[in-house]
Amino acid sequence: MSHDRAQRFFSTLLICGFVFTSTSFADDSTDKLWNFHVRPILNKNCVSCHGVTKKKSGLDLRSIEAILKGGDDGPAVVKGKPLKSSLYLYVLPGAEPHMPPGKDKQLTEEEIKILARWIERLNPDSNDTKSQAASKKNPSDLQLPLGTSPELAIDVFLERQWNKLKVTPTSRSSDPEFLRRLYLDLLGRIPTSVELHAFAKSTHSDKRNLEIDRLLNSKEFAKHFREIFSVVLMGRGNASRRNERQQQGWNRFLEDAFNENRSWKEVVKELVVARPKEDKAKGAIRFISERKNDAQKIAEALAPSLLGIQIQCAQCHDHPIAPEIEQRHYWGLVAFFNRSQVINTKKGQRISESAIGGFINFKTLSGDEKPAELIFYDAPLIQEMRPKKGEKEKDDTSKYIVAPPRKGVTPDSEAVPKFSRRQKLYDDVISEHPLLAKAFVNRVWAHLFGRGLVHPVDKIDSAHPPSHPDLFEFLAADFKASDFDVKRLIRSILKSRAYQLAGYRGSQAKRPRPEFFSAANEKPLSAEAYLRSIVIAVEQNEVPNLGSVSRSHLDNAFLSKFPELFQEEFSPTLKQALFMTNNPAIQEMLKPREGNLAWNLLQLKKPQQQVERAFEICLGRKPDQEELSYCVKFLEKKPKKGIEQLLWSIVSGAEFRLNH
Ligand code: HEC
Ligand code: HEC
Repeated sequence: MSHDRAQRFFSTLLICGFVFTSTSFADDSTDKLWNFHVRPILNKNCVSCHGVTKKKSGLDLRSIEAILKGGDDGPAVVKGKPLKSSLYLYVLPGAEPHMPPGKDKQLTEEEIKILARWIERLNPDSNDTKSQAASKKNPSDLQLPLGTSPELAIDVFLERQWNKLKVTPTSRSSDPEFLRRLYLDLLGRIPTSVELHAFAKSTHSDKRNLEIDRLLNSKEFAKHFREIFSVVLMGRGNASRRNERQQQGWNRFLEDAFNENRSWKEVVKELVVARPKEDKAKGAIRFISERKNDAQKIAEALAPSLLGIQIQCAQCHDHPIAPEIEQRHYWGLVAFFNRSQVINTKKGQRISESAIGGFINFKTLSGDEKPAELIFYDAPLIQEMRPKKGEKEKDDTSKYIVAPPRKGVTPDSEAVPKFSRRQKLYDDVISEHPLLAKAFVNRVWAHLFGRGLVHPVDKIDSAHPPSHPDLFEFLAADFKASDFDVKRLIRSILKSRAYQLAGYRGSQAKRPRPEFFSAANEKPLSAEAYLRSIVIAVEQNEVPNLGSVSRSHLDNAFLSKFPELFQEEFSPTLKQALFMTNNPAIQEMLKPREGNLAWNLLQLKKPQQQVERAFEICLGRKPDQEELSYCVKFLEKKPKKGIEQLLWSIVSGAEFRLNH
C-alpha cells in the first residue's frame, strides 16, 4: 500500500491530506460561467469602483441586472455581442478608457476571454438574466419521478453531475470504514472493539440501515448533535460560559430537541420568541440572554446560525458582494430585538419585551439618517406605529398581554406586549422563509459530507451559489414538507450511496474536488469527538464517560486547542501538534495500566500482533505491509517504551484526527 498513506500516518504535524481550493467546474453553462468565473473577476478587479460604495460613471458591476442596466453611457453589455459591449472593450490592452484604470493594471488574456465567452453566450431573446440564486425552479422542473425519496434524489442528482463531468466515484466503503465514519458523525466517537466485532459478525442483509437507525435513536446521538449545534448557535465560549449553559438548561433544551426529534422550526421558534412555557425548556432563552441585551450581537448570531447568511458586512453599507443583503436589513433585524431585555422573574431569568421605544436610525455612507424599520431580507416590511417627532410614547398597560412589573418588584413572569417584535420576526419573516430549511440542510450536509452544498456553510447568498442547485432545492423542500423532521433528513443522507462511498486512495494530484462528493471527504474531528475517541482507543472503555470530573481539565484543554467547527479551510496548527506532544495528561493515558490498551498490548508477546491490534483498535483497519514492517522493527528495538510511542503516533496522526 501506498507510501502516501504511511507518510501521512507518521506525520507528527497532523498535516491534512489536502487543502480545499476555490470552486471551479469544467462545465461552462452561462450560469456557471457567471457564478464561478465572471463574477469573481469583477469582484476582484472592478467592484471597488463599481459596487456598493462607489458607482463610477453610474455603473454597478455586482449583478447581471445592474450590468445590463449599465452606467452613464448605457448598458455595459450587449447580449451576444462582446464587440459592442464596453465591459469587454474597456478591458482590452490599450483601450481608451482602460479598465481597471492605470497602466500597470491589466486583466489577463484568460480573464478577458472568459468575459467575451460569457457575453457571447448571453441569449438576446431570453429574459433569463437573473442571478442564479434569485431564480426559482418548480420541483416539477427537476425531472424526478413524483414522490422520489430524498436518499434516491441525492444519488440521482450527484450521478447526473458525475456523468456530465466524467468523474468516476469511488466504490462502496468497506464495513469497518463505514462504521467508523458513522460513529464519528453521529455519536462523535469511534466504535469500541465490541461494537466493531458485533457489526463485522452480523450477516443481516440490511445491517447498515439497521445500524443507522439504532445510532440515530440513541442518547449519544442527541448529545453529540447538541454539542455541534451549541457551537453553531452560541460559539464555544470559555469554561465558565459552558458551565452557565449547563446550569441554566441550555444543554438540556437542545439535547431534548434532538432526542425527541422535535421539528427544527419549532426549536427555532423557541429560540427567537423565547418565552418558554415549561421549566424544562427554559434553556431556550440562552440564545438571546447570553448576548446581554446587545441587539446587534443577537442579529449577527441569528442570521448565520438560523438562516445561513452573514450580515456583518451590511452594517455600514449594503453588502459589498451579495447586493441582496442591504444595510436596512441589518438594522431591521437589530430592531426586532432592541425592545427585549433580560430580567429576573420568580421563575428565573426571562426575556421581557417592551411595547414602546426602540425606534433607532442608522446612517448610510452618504450621511443620510434612515429609520430602522422592521424588515429583513426579502420578507415584506412589517408595519408599525411610529411616534411622531417629539411625541412621547406612553407605556400603558393596554399595550400588553402581560404588563411590565412595578419598580423594585420581582415579577412572576416577563412582560409580553400585544405587538411583539420577536413574535412578528418569527411569524412573518422566519417561519416561512426558504432559508430556514436551507440553512439547516446545508449544515447537516456539511457535517456529514465535509463540505456544504453551499460553501462556506453560512454564506447562502448570491455570491456563493450551491454546487448542486437542484439537489439543494429538493432537499430543502423535502425537509420543509416533512415539517422539519431532523432525523429523517439525516437518515436520508446516511442511506444514500454517496455517503457510503469509500475515501479516495489515489494520487494527490488526481484527488477529486471535494464539492463533487464522488469520494468520502476527509473531515477533521471536533475537539469532543477527538478526545472521546482517544479515550475509547487507549483506555479500552466500553462506555465512554466524558465530562466526568476527573477529566474536565482535559476537556477544557481540548476545547481551547481544537475549537473550530465548519471551517472554511482546514489546516491543523502547530499549536495542536505541540499540545499533543507536551500534554502530560495525554502521555499519562498512554502508559500501561491494568486493562488499558498499552497494558493489553504488552500481554501479546509478538510485535506483529501488537502492531496489528493497535491499528485495529485505533484505526479500524489492518496495517499495510510497509507500516507493519516499520512498526515491528521499531518495537523490536524498544519493546516497552515503544508501545507508548507507537500509540502516541497513531492517535496524534492525521488518519486518527480525521473522519474519512
Ligand atoms: C479605480 C477605479 C476603477 C476600477 C477599479 C474600475 N473602474 Fe471602470 N470606471 C472608472 C471610472 C472613473 C470610469 C469613468 C471613466 C470615463 O468615463 O473615462 C469608469 C467607467 C467604466 C465603464 C463605462 C461606464 C459608463 O457607462 O460610462 C465601464 C464599462 C467600466 N468602467 C468597466 C470596468 C470594469 C469591467 C472594471 C474591472 C475590470 C473596472 N471598470 C474597474 C473607475 C474604475
Ligand atoms: C463599521 C462600518 C463598516 C463595516 C462593518 C464594513 N464596512 Fe466596508 N466600508 C465602510 C466605509 C466607511 C467604506 C467607504 C470607504 C470610502 O468611501 O472610501 C467602505 C467601503 C467598502 C468597500 C468598497 C470600497 C473599497 O475601498 O474597496 C468594500 C468592498 C467594503 N467596504 C467591504 C466590506 C466588507 C467585505 C465588510 C465586512 C467584512 C465591510 N466592508 C464592513 C465601512 C464599513
